[in-house]
Amino acid sequence: MPETALYPGSFDPITNGHADIIFRAAKLFDRVVIAVGRNSQKSPLFSVEERVQLLQETCRPLPNTIIEPFDGMLVDFARRNGARVIIKGLRAVSDFEYEFQMAMANKHLAPDVETLFLMASAEHLYLSSSIVKEIGRLGGDLSALVPAHVARALQEKFAGLPDEPRSERLP
Ligand code: PNS
Repeated sequence: MPETALYPGSFDPITNGHADIIFRAAKLFDRVVIAVGRNSQKSPLFSVEERVQLLQETCRPLPNTIIEPFDGMLVDFARRNGARVIIKGLRAVSDFEYEFQMAMANKHLAPDVETLFLMASAEHLYLSSSIVKEIGRLGGDLSALVPAHVARALQEKFAGLPDEPRSERLP
């Protein structure tokens, strides 16, 4: 039976760290469903449609990947897609507690679905969507942090946003 894995996240936006996990997962599994979800703790910069598009462009060389938006419970979405494995990327120790809680909660909800952690590659250990948004907002160099089309999307997004009031920028 072909083995499907689910790689969920907010992907707001996809970084080179996410892309690395996706390319490695695509070698390990017959099919990887990349699930673009809503994190109730965060308000996203990009819409779900924009995030899906940016992922599609990144995953073009990988015919065994598919990008899907999802709402509701992750384990339900995994089951609907025939995925027995949820893939998560782990960076520093700081990721561990949150990811451990989510993995335990998902295990409780769906004992038949396993969470599998892939360690981030050394060059991506510090990388996060929040960091790239901050660098993008301040006009910094994103070329080594996100795919080129994502860097362009960030530049366009921040060019279209009103500047912060001066009082917030000055010490
Ligand atoms: O990239 P993120 O922000 O860590 O992604 C988080 C996401 C969207 C994968 C997570 O919030 C999630 O799985 N949401 C679905 C809701 C759910 O299933 N909750 C119960 C498990 S704790």
